Amino acid sequence: MPPYDDIPAAEITPESLYLDRRRFLRLGAAGALGALLPAAAAGCEQPRRNAADPDAQERPDRPTSYEDITSYNNFYEFGLDKGDPARNARTLRPRPWSVAIEGLVAKPGVYGLEDILRGVTMEDRIYRLRCVEAWSMVIPWRGFPLADLVRRVEPLPGAKFVEFQTLYDPEQMPGQRSRTLDWPYVEGLRLDEARHPLTLLATGLYGRDLPNQNGAPLRLVVPWKYGFKSIKSIVRIRFVERQPVSSWERANPGEYGFYSNVNPDVDHPRWSQKNERRIGELRRRDTLMFNGYGDQVAQLYRGMDLRRYF
Ligand code: MTE
Repeated sequence: MPPYDDIPAAEITPESLYLDRRRFLRLGAAGALGALLPAAAAGCEQPRRNAADPDAQERPDRPTSYEDITSYNNFYEFGLDKGDPARNARTLRPRPWSVAIEGLVAKPGVYGLEDILRGVTMEDRIYRLRCVEAWSMVIPWRGFPLADLVRRVEPLPGAKFVEFQTLYDPEQMPGQRSRTLDWPYVEGLRLDEARHPLTLLATGLYGRDLPNQNGAPLRLVVPWKYGFKSIKSIVRIRFVERQPVSSWERANPGEYGFYSNVNPDVDHPRWSQKNERRIGELRRRDTLMFNGYGDQVAQLYRGMDLRRYF
């Protein structure tokens, strides 16, 4: 198990899939990720839904089904409805792909996806995702720590924040023809958040390559922040001195702050953040501070007023 994967896979994953996860890790070490999918996982034995389970709150986290993860999500570049990304994202061409590394780094450049992935150790990590809209999932990601990439490009001393951008191409992303957001989608992290070992650049889920609708071929995963911080289909990573303005902050600064840490004590102005609906369950769960990752990340925010820096 990777050290920061706090949901023990052996407890929550059907044993057959768990065993295959161990095989995935070995394949990963051999550098054969993504292309090679063990047959049992290709059939994808999904965890059962526990929709009628009255004790859901007390039950351990179970991975959300592959079907739900890939058919109910937000990717406004393909439409506003939760089913739109799965319906419309086939127009995205995730290969070939390149990522521009810019700003205050010793090694800027436009890197092919293969260059970015060369030499990284892929890991399978099961993380909770908590959307600002008060639904949640548990997702078995495949990816590598963003910290590895940060180290390789060598930030200069002035770099304090990292800004990320999604592809802008209305032909591939038809939702960009309407002005729902100020395209391209932008997100940002403090440099220490970007270097935190929980922060992943994901290339897959459930042992498969990311489907287009989940942000192929490369997306961010920051499990202690509301889901919208986890920007998809990244083409630009810029190291900057000043705090970036994210798309959601630009659209509505009263409702979406830069930090966006999951915090049950700070309500969204239009709804409570105290609890959440886990997709696949009927009963709501209490929302946990930092989405349950407080032991690992609370020290990043020591001394900060998290009502002000929401
Ligand atoms: N990234 C881009 N480029 N565009 C988006 O609309 N939506 C965000 C985030 N990343 C979004 C995005 C939101 S609101 C959520 S909840 C997550 O993606 C959900 O996607 P996932 O379930 O595939 O993680």
